[in-house]
Amino acid sequence: MSESSTTLHEDPKTLSVESVDRHRAIVSLMEELEATDWYDQRFQASSDKELRSILAHNRDEEKEHAAMLIEWLRRNDKKMAENLKKYLFTSGPIHDEKDAGGGAKAAPAAKADRSLGIGSLRVQEKA
Ligand SMILES: [Fe+2]
Repeated sequence: MSESSTTLHEDPKTLSVESVDRHRAIVSLMEELEATDWYDQRFQASSDKELRSILAHNRDEEKEHAAMLIEWLRRNDKKMAENLKKYLFTSGPIHDEKDAGGGAKAAPAAKADRSLGIGSLRVQEKA
């Protein structure tokens, strides 16, 4: 397998095709969101009206690209789909400290170390 991504954390030979494809989508999503942020900052900083218009257009196209990748991930990651269904397009508080057990509108309780739970994701990947 050619190394199309340098961000795999495990030997590709030990990963399923589906897992590597999810990795590609996740890395692509990260890149789209990063590009959105870059364009937004450049838009904010620019004083030229026409350049600002182009940068805003480009920024918003990156958001479309990100949304398509989120949808792909939803279709290819059951647990991601469950959480997107639980949290997206809802109203009210996303995280309720009083409902740390995870109610319908509450986000999962944050880990004490405030990490993104990467370790737990790895466990899920191998399941
Ligand atoms: Fe893009």
